[in-house]
Amino acid sequence: MTDDLEATSAPTIDAAHYRRVLGHFCTGITIITTVSDCQPAGFTCVSFTSVSLDPPLVAFLAQTTSSTLPKIRESGVFCVNVLSETQETICRAFAAKAVDKFQGIGWKPGATGSPVLSEVLASIDCRVEAEQPAGDHILVLGRVVEMNATYQGQPLLFYRGGYGRFEP
Ligand SMILES: Cc1cc2nc3c(=O)[nH]c(=O)nc-3n(C[C@H](O)[C@H](O)[C@H](O)COP(=O)(O)O)c2cc1C
Repeated sequence: MTDDLEATSAPTIDAAHYRRVLGHFCTGITIITTVSDCQPAGFTCVSFTSVSLDPPLVAFLAQTTSSTLPKIRESGVFCVNVLSETQETICRAFAAKAVDKFQGIGWKPGATGSPVLSEVLASIDCRVEAEQPAGDHILVLGRVVEMNATYQGQPLLFYRGGYGRFEP
């Protein structure tokens, strides 16, 4: 029994197989932003989820190598920007390791000071509540401070490694 449990809890999963299978879970796409030393920072992130209504909590996972993660730790705040179908270009830009990803990007500070990008479907402005190591990622839990969904449009989707559109 113990042997079975150990075998079940520590299977060998090939990395390409892991990516291919999980790629079948279609998601929206966000850009997580923060501000540190008066400079905006951010990265493209699909691992965003709602967590709790009372209290209002959300979460995302950041690679331990993310250069935005230490800035979020420093500021203690972040904003989740939910991308619309017209924003594939900035999605790609924020997935890069660029120095100034905000060049030519419209944004304004939200309630926490974190950038709210122009023409996003929704913005969820948060304070960091907790973080938890999770393998090669860190799970960041945030308490919602302010949230808005005013822009009319359709979401940008991510499915099996590619971008797509939603047709109701
Ligand atoms: C569609 C898409 C989704 C991504 N989702 C995540 C994610 O959930 N977590 C993460 O840490 N990186 C994710 N990335 C990778 C980061 O955006 C990428 O590593 C980025 O360069 C990190 O930037 P930074 O080091 O400036 O923070 C994603 C990339 C793409 C293209």
